Amino acid sequence: MSTQTDAATGVHPGPVSGSALADGQSGWSPHVQRAGNPFDKLHASLVPEIERIIAQYEDRRSGLIPLAHLFQEHEGYLSPNAVAAIAYHVHESLATVESTISFYTLLFRKPVGKYMIQVCRNLSCLLNGAEDIMAYARRQLGIGHLETTDDGLISYEEVECLAACDRAPCAQVNLEFVYDLTRESVDAMIAAIRAGTYEIKPLAQTVKPGRTWKVEQDTGRKSAGGMNVSDPNNAGGIGDASGIVMFDLIVGKAKYETRSTERLVHETQLRPELSENGHH
Ligand code: FES
Repeated sequence: MSTQTDAATGVHPGPVSGSALADGQSGWSPHVQRAGNPFDKLHASLVPEIERIIAQYEDRRSGLIPLAHLFQEHEGYLSPNAVAAIAYHVHESLATVESTISFYTLLFRKPVGKYMIQVCRNLSCLLNGAEDIMAYARRQLGIGHLETTDDGLISYEEVECLAACDRAPCAQVNLEFVYDLTRESVDAMIAAIRAGTYEIKPLAQTVKPGRTWKVEQDTGRKSAGGMNVSDPNNAGGIGDASGIVMFDLIVGKAKYETRSTERLVHETQLRPELSENGHH
């Protein structure tokens, strides 16, 4: 990872290809302070806050997500260094930290724009015009799902229900709610962000984002639920076919069918008889 900083923007560039460490690897160690390394400096300054957060919990692993938010607040995303430091502080493996943070669309595993626009694509929003809003926003921004504008200012993502269905169609911008979206309000939002006058604060940005933060398609061995997923970047729900792929796999194979039938018989036997009025 390069540690050189662009003097004009204060932003240091992303991993340099061919550097000693491959993308996704961390050179961080709790025992070595690398001179001039921005992450090591940040980590050292955050240690009192990290200890305060962990002390709040009976089990230190409960501090995993709060620590992820803490590092993201300062770095703008969760760098491999941050993942290694979180694992160290919560006494968990890198795999546990990775699998936890990859579950949440609120935690970014690659650098993103200073403004993250996350438009809801779930049922209430779709019924209330989200499809048109999403197509309009993509066109106005000139980017697609999981992409960032070339100037690194705005990232765009379509996400599942934001639990604000009564104000559909809606979005979150840097995790703040924006309700009742219209084409006009999308225009006003983008214009204000570009003018630097938007009411929501920008995210930290320590590394210039690439065009996309998509994850590569996995081809390795997977459980039935994870195989043949055509688009690993879809979080599930209305816009994602992975549920259907999984369902087809399970019902379409004789071995799964046998297991399901056995289980059904077994569980039916375990179930108490219903009384006449339908209660146990
Ligand atoms: S469906 Fe969009 S907030 Fe619930």
